[in-house]
Amino acid sequence: MSTTHPSWITRSLQSVWHPCTQMQHHETMPLIPISHGRGAWLVDTDGRRYLDAISSWWVNLFGHANPRINAALRDQLERLEHAMLAGFTHEPVIELSEKLAALTGHELGHCFYASDGASAVEIALKMSFHYWRNSGESERREFVCLKNSYHGETIGALAVTDVTLFRDAYGPLLRQAHVAASPDARLAQEGERAEDVARRAAAELDSLLQQREGRIAAVIVEPLVQCAAGMAMHDPLYLKLVRESCDRHRVHLIADEIAVGCGRTGTFFACEQAGIRPDFVCLSKGISGGYLPLSLVMTRDAIYQAFYDADVTRGFLHSHSYTGNPLACRAALATLAIFEEDDVLAKNRERAERLTQALQPLAQHRSVAHFRRRGMIWAFDAVLDDAAAATFSRRFFTAALEQELLIRPIGRTVYLMPPYILDEEESMLLGTRLHAVFDKVIAQ
Ligand SMILES: Cc1ncc(COP(=O)(O)O)c(C=O)c1O
Repeated sequence: MSTTHPSWITRSLQSVWHPCTQMQHHETMPLIPISHGRGAWLVDTDGRRYLDAISSWWVNLFGHANPRINAALRDQLERLEHAMLAGFTHEPVIELSEKLAALTGHELGHCFYASDGASAVEIALKMSFHYWRNSGESERREFVCLKNSYHGETIGALAVTDVTLFRDAYGPLLRQAHVAASPDARLAQEGERAEDVARRAAAELDSLLQQREGRIAAVIVEPLVQCAAGMAMHDPLYLKLVRESCDRHRVHLIADEIAVGCGRTGTFFACEQAGIRPDFVCLSKGISGGYLPLSLVMTRDAIYQAFYDADVTRGFLHSHSYTGNPLACRAALATLAIFEEDDVLAKNRERAERLTQALQPLAQHRSVAHFRRRGMIWAFDAVLDDAAAATFSRRFFTAALEQELLIRPIGRTVYLMPPYILDEEESMLLGTRLHAVFDKVIAQ
């Protein structure tokens, strides 16, 4: 394994606190100094390349150093890098809000901006709570999330996150949320289909809403794929049934499409596959093409109107300094333009077919369980004993780097979330090398 640029590594380990990392692991795990990126590849300071098969934490849609996004940003840099959005506005934020609203058939006609995914989740939770307060139903202050849900790491977002590893240390700081059954299709019992699991989970949620009638502000879900839980996929029927329950009990439905939006599941919004519209949609990650921190919450005009008043305290007084940053919005506009100009959703169906073919031999591997795909997300679970599973992810990551692949399994789940640009050769390379890495790690 390359050690590449030693001074960057030492300096980084001395001064940078890296995210989601037990820093001591870097005593044995490589830290890789990246010099540049091009297309689907990241290149380190020794010239070694890595196929970014997870789109750099699911953000990069159209490759690194994308010429079209670069050009848009250069142009924007010459005009306006930033202006505060309270009391001011600018073309990129207006155009982006209009385009996004159009993508929802103007049903979610108002767009509120922030920077990271977790901030968007905080905003949706606060908006829902405040909506009910403004509407004279301040008893509606409880939230429901799903088992194994992940909505981010800030205190409010963590309160609706059900991943023990991330939340346990902060338990005393967190407001309790209700945790409803996950519709994860892997929970199917003998003779059941994904639809049956969806029905069962939705029925359980419905009885919770009934039990807490008048108390629940919103249900928050990750539509179609609970990504951080290990790419747990469910049938779209679940979303349809949850929408019906939320309507029946007058509860908001928040769709956290931070990971699954922007075409990742095959449609621009994952919820489209269930034919439903949530009350709030959170977007981030891919919306700026993986260029700049941008997140947003879209909501219905009726919700917006509940805040529109002469009384300042009925307004939504939330803010972040970089709200609606023009550069980030411009990157998002360039990203949406690529979707339109290149007919990306249709092309992705062909790309997905190609990569699925390339992964077929691995899908048949006797140590592979639950090989699954939704749109441009592939995942499978390694069949391992618990001792091997404890170190699987780190061993796999290291072995993958040796094969020029950037892949970080979640527990025993190996997944791919590549950018929407892989050509035939890259798909073949990914399929073959992933298989080789898996064979090696399973045999260790
Ligand atoms: C579904 C979902 N929600 C929220 C977040 C948090 O986003 P961020 O890391 O940008 O705060 C993530 C991040 O992975 C996510 O997958």
